[in-house]
Amino acid sequence: MVSAKTWKREFIREQEEEEVAMKVEVEEILHMVGGLGEEQAIGKAKPIVEKSISEVYCTLLPQNLVIVDLGCSSGPTAFMVISNILSAIVPDLCHRLSHHRSPEISFFLNDLPGNDFNTIFKSLTKLEKMVREEIKELKDLPYYVFGAPGSFYGKLFPRDSIHFTHSSYSLHWLSQVPQSLQDYEDTPINCGNIYIAKDSPSGVSRSYLEQFQQDFSMFLKLRAEEIISGGQMVLTFLGRTNLDPLRGEMTYLLELLAEALNSFVSEGLLEKEKVDQFNMPFYAPAMEEVREIIMNQGSFNLHQEYIFELNWDPHDSCDGEFVSDNKLSGENAAKCVRAALEPMLASYFGEEIIDTLFSRYAENVAKHLLKQKTKLVNFTIALKKI
Ligand SMILES: C[S@@+](CC[C@H](N)C(=O)[O-])C[C@H]1O[C@@H](n2cnc3c(N)ncnc32)[C@H](O)[C@@H]1O
Repeated sequence: MVSAKTWKREFIREQEEEEVAMKVEVEEILHMVGGLGEEQAIGKAKPIVEKSISEVYCTLLPQNLVIVDLGCSSGPTAFMVISNILSAIVPDLCHRLSHHRSPEISFFLNDLPGNDFNTIFKSLTKLEKMVREEIKELKDLPYYVFGAPGSFYGKLFPRDSIHFTHSSYSLHWLSQVPQSLQDYEDTPINCGNIYIAKDSPSGVSRSYLEQFQQDFSMFLKLRAEEIISGGQMVLTFLGRTNLDPLRGEMTYLLELLAEALNSFVSEGLLEKEKVDQFNMPFYAPAMEEVREIIMNQGSFNLHQEYIFELNWDPHDSCDGEFVSDNKLSGENAAKCVRAALEPMLASYFGEEIIDTLFSRYAENVAKHLLKQKTKLVNFTIALKKI
């Protein structure tokens, strides 16, 4: 029999090994935090979330309504989702309470294991106080919040246990950088770029699309197992309006970042190979690609889709085609991209280049905005389990 001491030693060793393995595998995406307009996107998608969750509740009338937020991060948006959902269903729910036993609501907040779940849990009491003050009908209706660490490209919940799944600004992150971005001799094929760019060899966009197809199909398959019949999902993620991947809106934004990185190569401050080998584990699909994957996978009906644009500069609320202050908008946009990508770039290229990298990037964005006010394209889709 294994003694408690040996078991404990073994357990600690295994945990350490697991931590190292996990760091290597998801190292690049562990720290992706907010930055690119998540708050505005959640606001835009709110009516679709409200409609979908009310529909689920009214059709299924569950005693314990189970809701999941995938890729919740640790910022205030995790709470926004909870309070939006509560305000969407609680008044209706209370209306029915005179006839039904009070239901309970469970929220499962998911993100990668490296996410700062502690920050979320430390703020829950404050959130509860605010939410109960804001939504008067909530009164003492019980709701619970749980953490669910793990990748949404793997199994997360028991079969038939979830009524409503939400995810915002997370599904454009792939499970990995497409492996076929290296040729059979391990030589990088997307040299000088960090994502699909207009001068990328033809295989690059195909590799990205194939990785997205594989990941998104797997995501749908897994969620279909967890969501009960009649349950729904609302997903918001970055996309593109142009079917041609070389002319996607994110292509422009990331080409300008690659340009800033390449300026370090020209000055001998970064090795060319280092930049050549770096690619983002990210894909902004066209809606046609999304529809095709959903149809081929076959577990969900796409019953609502909404495409909306946001300015690169989140402080620019003007819908017009021109920016009023391109320098300021360049700086604001660069700050947002920095918030989202800094940990990943710093861990790969080193902390020391980050300040200069993003000030060069801000200049590049400012120049681009003078020529064209390119926008971030967002998709919100509502899916019903078949
Ligand atoms: C930009 S944040 C979005 C946070 C929040 N949902 C919002 O809308 O503000 C993207 C989040 O997705 C998480 N993420 C990326 N890939 C993931 C995966 N495979 N499984 C779970 N979470 C993932 C990241 O860790 C990050 O916290």
